[in-house]
Amino acid sequence: MRVLSGIQPSGALHLGNYFAMMKRMIEYQEKHELFCFIVNYHALTSVRDSEYLRQNTYAACVDFLALGIDPNRSYFYVQSDIPEVTELTWLLSNVTEMGLLLRAHSYKDKVEKGIEPNHGLFAYPVLMAADILLYGANFIPVGKDQKQHVEMTRDIAQKFNYNYGETFVLPEPEIIDDLATIPGTDGQKMSKSYGNTINLFASKEELKKRVMSIVTDARAVEEIKDPDTCNLFALTSLFLDAERKAELRQRYLRPGLKYGEVKKELIEIIWNYFEPYRDKHEELLNRPDYVHDVMRAGAAKTRLIAVEYLEKARNAVGLNY
Ligand code: TRP
Repeated sequence: MRVLSGIQPSGALHLGNYFAMMKRMIEYQEKHELFCFIVNYHALTSVRDSEYLRQNTYAACVDFLALGIDPNRSYFYVQSDIPEVTELTWLLSNVTEMGLLLRAHSYKDKVEKGIEPNHGLFAYPVLMAADILLYGANFIPVGKDQKQHVEMTRDIAQKFNYNYGETFVLPEPEIIDDLATIPGTDGQKMSKSYGNTINLFASKEELKKRVMSIVTDARAVEEIKDPDTCNLFALTSLFLDAERKAELRQRYLRPGLKYGEVKKELIEIIWNYFEPYRDKHEELLNRPDYVHDVMRAGAAKTRLIAVEYLEKARNAVGLNY
């Protein structure tokens, strides 16, 4: 089975990205044919600073590699290293109805928020459909916010297949529920755009600052606390097995718990969790030539599949004159 998903390099990757997507993708390598990519073409819909995009793209490659994406076993690549995807986008555009794109929640939300829409933002779902259909992917692990985009991909593929004959595999979304439950330091969903993230591989100083800034309620030490409404509890739980989570819950339900103490514990927990990856991360950050070679090789391997699907599609629509 082919599993495919990607992450936009529109900022430093954080615990929300890790628990919602990266960790899962790294585990999927064991069981599935995995396609994992850094979505830099899509990031252009919001990032205007070229240096920022370059740096974050590179940093995302390093983060994934340090955390255990195995480029020999999986297809790991940068979206723009497979230019075939833009050609497929054009072929798909012509079977994509305007009405479908106008109904996209993500587009409508952004316009409502006052973001001035450009054509890239409007066509975003078509490029995403091309990302998926170019490799015949079956399962697409995404957060709820992306579910509609995968459904649109199915729609577009169906239209294409209906008109031109069976060409594309219809993908299924695999909805990641945890995504909504990974709170940022302020309790909203962890997201770069809310400024509430705890970044992967932050320095110890930075990590301390971020964890100490986690918002908790004002209950006094001698009061009992409510684990189920506490972001500090939710964040700490991500790292605990069932038994340790139950212990922490008990501490919340007895008088005497100090949030400051839980925060100090959380700093160490996060620090130790990523400790096994830190050396590799440091090393890769300092070997850009090596990282670029790895990404180029990843793209070359992935392209073999891309050209096959693109050729099928080109023939199907009649570009093979
Ligand atoms: N739109 C996705 C997001 O922002 C990223 C993405 C682009 C993607 N292409 C994809 C995810 C293909 C899954 C499959 O989260």
